[in-house]
Amino acid sequence: MDEVRIGIIGLGNIGQVHVGNLMDGKVPRGKLTAVGDAIADKLPDYEAKGLKTFDSGEALIGSGEIDALIIATPHFQHTTLGIAALEAGLHVMVEKPISAHKADAERLIAAAAARPEQKFGGMFQLRVEPRYQKIRELVQGGELGDLIRVIWIMTDWFRAEAYYQSGGWRATWKGEGGGVLLNQCLHQLDALQWITGMPSKIRSHVGIGKYHDIEVEDDVTCYME
Ligand SMILES: NC(=O)c1ccc[n+]([C@@H]2O[C@H](COP(=O)([O-])OP(=O)(O)OC[C@H]3O[C@@H](n4cnc5c(N)ncnc54)[C@H](O)[C@@H]3O)[C@@H](O)[C@H]2O)c1
Repeated sequence: MDEVRIGIIGLGNIGQVHVGNLMDGKVPRGKLTAVGDAIADKLPDYEAKGLKTFDSGEALIGSGEIDALIIATPHFQHTTLGIAALEAGLHVMVEKPISAHKADAERLIAAAAARPEQKFGGMFQLRVEPRYQKIRELVQGGELGDLIRVIWIMTDWFRAEAYYQSGGWRATWKGEGGGVLLNQCLHQLDALQWITGMPSKIRSHVGIGKYHDIEVEDDVTCYME
């Protein structure tokens, strides 16, 4: 396939970043052809850029306008839209987390595994950052010898109260499925296991609404073996 026609569902914070990257030609062979969002008022701006627009994910998936789809909606739509897109024969990139619950993630992965001719991935961009790739190379290549202890502290992904209040789905069990562990820390957990391997035991301290007026966790310390 010389050119891949790409669609995006969800034109919020990150969907707009994907639109910008594709329209700026930063993805070789990738051509943004269509976008979708449940808020119809968002669509005219994208029509003006020459894109086909759809007011639902399902309509975009069934449109025949795309070969591949980026799903950038809130968490609970990822499984349903992801499976629908795979069943429609599309290649799929799902924003993290690929699903909000383990059982849903397993259903989505099974749908992808049943179609090996289609590409499927979750958006874990730390894996393509050169610094993380270098750390992984040093660890996995044995240059550092056997690792006895790893300390990984991440505080600069802290989000202010305004972030949590910026969307109804954010920082709620019903809308997001969790807090910092499922949203920001998930990049760190992915990178850590990608570099050092999966732990066999975990103990942790989790603070629910410790620093914000939210119902989900916003502070986590884990001890992994
Ligand atoms: N990779 C990263 O670093 C990164 C960064 C930010 C967000 N994200 C992820 O991207 C996803 C979206 O986050 P966001 O911050 O852009 O959210 P957002 O709330 O800013 O945007 C979500 C958009 O999806 C639309 N939408 C909601 N339900 C829809 C549906 N059923 N069909 C079509 N459109 C629908 C909303 O109208 C909104 O425009 C989340 O999974 C989030 O965790 C990833």
